[in-house]
Amino acid sequence: MRTLRSIAELRAALAEPRRFGAEIGLVPTMGAFHEGHLSLMRHAREECDTVVVSLFVNPTQFNESSDLSAYPRDEAGDAVLAADVGVDFLFAPPVEELYPTGFATTVSVSAITGELEGIHRGRGHFDGVTTIVTKLLNIASPDVAYFGQKDAQQAVVIKRLVRDLDMPVRIAICPTVREPDGLAMSSRNRHLDPAERFRATALHRALRTAEAAVAAGLRDPAVVQARARAELTSSHVEPEYLELVHADTLAPVATIDGDVLAVLAAWVGDTRLIDNHVITKNGRR
Ligand code: PAF
Repeated sequence: MRTLRSIAELRAALAEPRRFGAEIGLVPTMGAFHEGHLSLMRHAREECDTVVVSLFVNPTQFNESSDLSAYPRDEAGDAVLAADVGVDFLFAPPVEELYPTGFATTVSVSAITGELEGIHRGRGHFDGVTTIVTKLLNIASPDVAYFGQKDAQQAVVIKRLVRDLDMPVRIAICPTVREPDGLAMSSRNRHLDPAERFRATALHRALRTAEAAVAAGLRDPAVVQARARAELTSSHVEPEYLELVHADTLAPVATIDGDVLAVLAAWVGDTRLIDNHVITKNGRR
């Protein structure tokens, strides 16, 4: 695996495989790899001839500078993990390479970014994500780009971005990777102390509770949400939002008569966690 720092180097490295018709897969990341990231890389490795992983802690998607500086960074450790999975190129540019002096462009998806995470992380968060993802897609010109279902709203926003701007790339959304007890893998899990780590399993249980309620025939989202919310609060986990929304528009559903996305964000101590499940009319997907 080669680590590349500049846009020119990455483009040059990809020119040759592209000339021979290689299918190129891109996995955009901010590093601090866990099994969730590695699973995206494995999907890319299975499906593509050449795999690029970008590692860039994107400053424009953080609202608080303290969050940006606290973001875990371990490029050397990440490089070992990516190489083990068989990644060809690790693209890890410095900030000035992607945001040179005078940078003045924002790519913004105007719908579906103001709700859920958009309220709690600020609208600028998704502008930062869509701007950097547009840049990474322009730089690597992959055939396929891989993202996790764990960040459900981000996945919907990126699919809309690519559709609206006619970007010639397939967006692959890969399933959430979970710990054996159901907790979704996240770089934030490392902030949980043992008691919090135990309580954090309530997020997955709350989503399972919502599924069970739908499977039992409940069709009123408010009733289903109340049951799921009770699961969180009984474990002393503070929900920030817990909603049943349409999987493409992210609009709250009035009744459950097809697939819905159950999305939640909750505080476990000082750590904010998110999770989601797609729920079919009959319960589990
Ligand atoms: O999901 C992430 O890690 C980031 O939001 C992404 C897509 C790499 C953009 O910085």
